[in-house]
Amino acid sequence: MHPTMGLARLRPACLLAILSIVAASFLAAPAAAAGKTGQVTVFWGRNKDEGSLREACDSGRYTMVTMSFLDVFGRGNKYHLDLSGHDLTAIGADIKHCQFIGVPVSISIGGYGTGYSLPSNRSALDLFDHLWNSYFGGSKPGVPRPFGDAWLDGVDLFLEHGTPADRYDVLALELAKHNIRGGPGKPLHLTATVRCAYPPAAHVGRALATGIFERVHVRIYEGDDKACNVYGAWQDAWDKWTAAYPATRFYIGLTADQNSYQWIHPKNVYYGVAPVVQKKDNYGGIMLWDRYFDKKSDDYGSLIKNYA
Ligand SMILES: *[C@@H]1O[C@H](CO)[C@@H](O)[C@H](O)[C@H]1NC(C)=O
Repeated sequence: MHPTMGLARLRPACLLAILSIVAASFLAAPAAAAGKTGQVTVFWGRNKDEGSLREACDSGRYTMVTMSFLDVFGRGNKYHLDLSGHDLTAIGADIKHCQFIGVPVSISIGGYGTGYSLPSNRSALDLFDHLWNSYFGGSKPGVPRPFGDAWLDGVDLFLEHGTPADRYDVLALELAKHNIRGGPGKPLHLTATVRCAYPPAAHVGRALATGIFERVHVRIYEGDDKACNVYGAWQDAWDKWTAAYPATRFYIGLTADQNSYQWIHPKNVYYGVAPVVQKKDNYGGIMLWDRYFDKKSDDYGSLIKNYA
């Protein structure tokens, strides 16, 4: 979400605070740099002990929450949502609450499992149909709606596995034709969460080549990719990512897990990461993996929000 969106829902004090942050970032930043945006997206749904979706939104640390994952699709119309044992019946009301306080909620598809693929245009359109009818504005008889009449704000593509034949481009194009609740002119938030290395795998690149993604989250905290992580060439990759898709807002993806060797101390986020990533005029914000670790960390996310 950009600073001008959703202001109507905020109390005047919040509004003033946001406007002064926006003004400060214009004053402080050179013309070509985005500067701070205050945007923090968090992943939620990977651990039952992370607390409810409502609690995550109420923490005030995040400007968007991405639920993860829809981890089975593309295989003969079988779909599966894995939210790690969270009570699904509570989530619809929580989604509405989050939206009411100005925090959009999206759903991420894919993940670290291997139960998904999108091998044809047909499967891509079927997946669109499933998403639209289960989580957005559709209401096809016989299609379950896990969150009742709550209507999500976006779809995130988290495609760890795939082949060059996958048609995520077709899915993306179809999604982009559709609006979030609130009507015309408000396309749903279309995002992707990618590994640090550039260029991406073929199936991801094919989707991003549509040029229609609103945001991309670049994960720099994963150990299996040593050439491109916190200790490696992430800055070089960041330059390439941001240059390759100028119409997309880029979020730097950090882990909130203090036990990870790729956890970045808040001071180093402030002095080392934020100034680098905010040089790009299509810098969007920070993505945190994930709510569970952030909740355990006491105040990581609240510090990060100040630096984002
Ligand atoms: C699949 O969809 C794409 C994008 O709409 C289109 O260009 C392509 O021709 C389609 N392929 C087939 C086999 O229908």
